[in-house]
Amino acid sequence: MSLFDQELMSRLNTVISASIGIHCAPERFGDLEKALVLAARDLNYSDAQQFALKLFQSSLADEEIQALVRHLTVAETYFFREAKAFAELEAVLPDLIEEKRVAGKRLRILSAGCCTGEEAYSLVMLLTRLIADLDDWQIDIIGSDINQDYLAKARLGIYSSWAFRGVMSEPLDQLKARFFSEVESGNFAIEPRLKDMVRFVYLNLADDYLIYEKQLGTEPFDLILCRNVLIYFDKPLIKPVLQRLSRLLRPGGWLLLAATEVPSAGEKVFADYLRPRLHNDVYLFQRVATKSASSDLNVVPSLQNELDYGRKLLQQGEYAASERILTKGLEQINQYGNEKRKRDSKLQKQFLELLVRTLSNLGRFDDASCQADILVRLDNRYDYLYLYAVVLSESGRTSDAKELLKQAIAQKSDFIAASFMLASLALHEGDKHTANGYLQKVRADLAKLAPQSLVECTDGTSVQELLNIVEQLVNGAQ
Ligand SMILES: C[S@@+](CC[C@H](N)C(=O)[O-])C[C@H]1O[C@@H](n2cnc3c(N)ncnc32)[C@H](O)[C@@H]1O
Repeated sequence: MSLFDQELMSRLNTVISASIGIHCAPERFGDLEKALVLAARDLNYSDAQQFALKLFQSSLADEEIQALVRHLTVAETYFFREAKAFAELEAVLPDLIEEKRVAGKRLRILSAGCCTGEEAYSLVMLLTRLIADLDDWQIDIIGSDINQDYLAKARLGIYSSWAFRGVMSEPLDQLKARFFSEVESGNFAIEPRLKDMVRFVYLNLADDYLIYEKQLGTEPFDLILCRNVLIYFDKPLIKPVLQRLSRLLRPGGWLLLAATEVPSAGEKVFADYLRPRLHNDVYLFQRVATKSASSDLNVVPSLQNELDYGRKLLQQGEYAASERILTKGLEQINQYGNEKRKRDSKLQKQFLELLVRTLSNLGRFDDASCQADILVRLDNRYDYLYLYAVVLSESGRTSDAKELLKQAIAQKSDFIAASFMLASLALHEGDKHTANGYLQKVRADLAKLAPQSLVECTDGTSVQELLNIVEQLVNGAQ
């Protein structure tokens, strides 16, 4: 029997995919539930329901991401996976290599979602074939992945025969003899010379662009592979990932995707930044020279535009960039005289609200609470009080949060989100009696609304969805 009903699974699915990209189709909800149970056990939660509640209450901490990723990611990979893709790389790379030879013999390559490293090491092997004087080059190949266990295995560089199941480029024995040494029966260690050309780093592709740059450096890449990763992603998240990857490329650089993930990516990203090259069913995209997205940041002409742009970046998950835009806008407003600032106070509040959300998404709850404090001093209306309460509870100041929630309910007695949060906080503290009282109130207030309408201040939760969650919690709280 299922621990959670379909509605709740679907909410959990959304919360998880917002953090790690991976999204399960309804027919895989069984796997998702299994992953939740195992992750809850790894994290020492008393049961999966407690973990689920935590997922609804706040953004995921690193160890929670790892616990989920451990049970949700797929480790399917092998050397020279999809031989024809490597054949197409062999066709386009010689020109790029000649260009780079003239420009100082440096190459930067990324294998995004590299899993246990086979793809990144395949690229090194390919380069040894394409570049005769490879030792004179500065080669920086980065394999990145969200799963730390896979990265550890990649850094170790020891593989069983199973990892060679796709090798067709040269006789298998020859390849093993050239690039590996046998370490124990059936296992092969990649040669140190090749291993030294590859670095493995943690990167969650669902994070925003500044995190990409922080983890990978700002020097542009000549080639990026991202294969069999985005097929597991929630559709709306695919395009922003491709945009970020294309921003990492230098003009003229190449992006290789697996054919399965291309159609779901949407058309525009390719039209704007990337010129497709389709040959032999292999999709390669070449970055065309265009104004960079960072130069876009400098051409915002008015405060209203800055606000809209900040909101868009926030929705796209580009939190660091949205912080920059919103802070700049607020600085501009702060330079106004008192009268003009008063006239623009609505705009100022909108900036502050978005900044609070952005800083929370960045996990900077102290900064977010400073801005939320300014916001409620300007206007202590119930939804701002609620936002402030969410931030305070994220930073562990639950009694202050409860106080604000009660003030919000005093203004708006049927403020469902606030009552629900008070119930959640009480449940978290083990106070089932208080939790039950608030849950009953939420249930009664929800009953007055149409099932498909959205509950205010919940980022798109419908009345019916919340009712289902409440039913489950009421059962748990009794
Ligand atoms: C099926 S493997 C593909 C490996 C390799 N690219 C290939 O094609 O053989 C998918 C990889 O994507 C990684 N992955 C999943 N979600 C990710 C995310 N949000 N950020 C980075 N990597 C992710 C998984 O950990 C896994 O290693």
